[in-house]
Amino acid sequence: MGKVAIYPGTFDPITNGHLDIIKRALKLFDKVIVAIGENPAKKPLFTKEERLNLVKEAIKELSDGDRVEVAIFSGLLVEFAKKCGANVIVRGLRAVSDFEYEMQLALMNRKLSNNIDTVFLLPSLKWIFLSSSIIKEAAKLGGNVEDLVPSIVAKKLKEKFSS
Ligand code: COA
Repeated sequence: MGKVAIYPGTFDPITNGHLDIIKRALKLFDKVIVAIGENPAKKPLFTKEERLNLVKEAIKELSDGDRVEVAIFSGLLVEFAKKCGANVIVRGLRAVSDFEYEMQLALMNRKLSNNIDTVFLLPSLKWIFLSSSIIKEAAKLGGNVEDLVPSIVAKKLKEKFSS
């Protein structure tokens, strides 16, 4: 099966920054599983199924998209990772402000499963300021986010906010 990594997140919705991390992870691992989960602190705009479909559409743009799997999970991430045969968790680090939360998450995951390590990847500088929340805020107010998200996401955001 080769080296399998899991890239978890809320992906509400997937952005070009997330795609950038997936591309980088594909250079390091044979298979990347994008795992769509629930952060109890967040109230997503898109349902899990909608987020799954958006990621599936978005990865069609990648040349190595056939090495990416997309799945929904609930419960503990490390348990899901084990089920998938992944012993690496990939997370994107954008700024120093991400670090404290990411370190806490990574250390808790290590405490829960000592066999799984977290690898942090840096997105390209042009995506460093992106987050799903800022994209949703701009789109909600009628801003153009077409350069920042996959085309299917831009379309779905327009639909969500016009209804
Ligand atoms: N480009 C653009 N945006 C990025 C990014 C990148 N490269 N990397 C991170 N982000 C943004 C996301 O869009 C998101 O923005 P938002 O806060 O505006 O929504 C934010 O950074 C970080 O969110 P995300 O990467 O989606 O992670 P999360 O913190 O929402 O999700 C889970 C965390 C789902 C992985 C975590 O809660 C989890 O594992 N839950 C399952 C239960 C569990 O096992 N918990 C851990 C141990 S108790």
